[in-house]
Amino acid sequence: MFSRRTAWDHGLNPLTREQRELRAAGHSFLDLTRSNPTACGFEYPDEAIRRALSDDRLLRYTPEPRGLRDAREAVAEYYAGHGVPVDPDHLVLTASTSEAYHYLFRLLCDPGDRVATPVPSYPLLDFLATLSDVTLAPYSLPREAFTPGEAVERAPWPGFDPTARAVVLVQPHNPCGTMPGPAQRDRLVSACLEHDAALIVDEVFLDYAEELPERVSFAGERRTLTFVTSGLSKIAGLPQLKLGWIHVSGPAARRDEALERLETIADTYLSVNTPVQLGARSLLAVRDGLIGQIRDRLAANRATLDQALGGAGASAAGSPAGWYGVIDVGRELDEETFALDLMRREKVLVHPGFYYDFPRPGYLIVSLLGDVDEFREGVNRLAAALCETPGRGIKSNG
Ligand SMILES: Cc1ncc(COP(=O)(O)O)c(C=O)c1O
Repeated sequence: MFSRRTAWDHGLNPLTREQRELRAAGHSFLDLTRSNPTACGFEYPDEAIRRALSDDRLLRYTPEPRGLRDAREAVAEYYAGHGVPVDPDHLVLTASTSEAYHYLFRLLCDPGDRVATPVPSYPLLDFLATLSDVTLAPYSLPREAFTPGEAVERAPWPGFDPTARAVVLVQPHNPCGTMPGPAQRDRLVSACLEHDAALIVDEVFLDYAEELPERVSFAGERRTLTFVTSGLSKIAGLPQLKLGWIHVSGPAARRDEALERLETIADTYLSVNTPVQLGARSLLAVRDGLIGQIRDRLAANRATLDQALGGAGASAAGSPAGWYGVIDVGRELDEETFALDLMRREKVLVHPGFYYDFPRPGYLIVSLLGDVDEFREGVNRLAAALCETPGRGIKSNG
């Protein structure tokens, strides 16, 4: 009756299952995995958001497959703010970045084609690939990307499967926070040209990389066919409003062909609702008040994390960008058993590194978005638990 691609195992993983049981029994947790910005105590301009969504023009349907012009102009201004001039005609709006991936996989790949994606990586890409009948061809991030104290921007950039139709770069990376430096960008672009692969760059966390000098959008890339995706979900902290986009650049003939084809895909679904497009300019302006709050929160929680880990023989790994903290516990660890014990005994929630496919066991991932007091208490309990947990003393990332 059903497709093979949807034959998922619907069982809950042990952490989620037990968390639900404990919550049902009345327990509450210090949640170090909270990454929904609307549930983290930030101040939003509620009235301005309501006003943005109540434009009278929403009562009429005037579909434009690439998205309403005014919304695309507002997105182009976002890139201008990053120092990258962008033509609104080179943008296609989507309902989310996740949908943008789906459109791009459909644009570039036939069933079974390969797409090179980084590991470690956040888990969503597996599902997106399955739903688009695409096979992921993982490439390993440079080891420096998740080694405490290492500078990743000069590490040799890894090669990728030469048969891949596209290469995905997430910059800043989720969860490691890394961005390629100039030489690594050149290497990536040359490899795409050499293997005739398109470049897909996910920049949802670009605004949370201010400490990295290499924070440059790929929207200005002209040498090879390049798709940059982002959306309101992270850059304006508005995941519930469902507006993403794809910017297309590269050699003109290829770029225009890609845009025409994308337009037909978008025209098939017309999935971006009118109110959010009419409000796009005002909703993007939410960033003005929000990004500073989020950056302050990330910096405060990052400092707390660094301080707490020092005494526990663990270190924060990765670059200071994005919303996540990568903890290298400094030894081999059964991550799931540790996370389960931490939840049962200390009532603290963390993600084990294997959710993100780290190359060896010994990583924990926390969100840096949560309330600072909850975060401090949770991280202190985590550090104390690490001190009590025997490990095998492995320090290398090999
Ligand atoms: C790196 C990255 N890209 C894309 C997404 C999905 O974003 P959207 O809400 O726009 O679908 C996420 C969600 O966490 C993410 O971490």
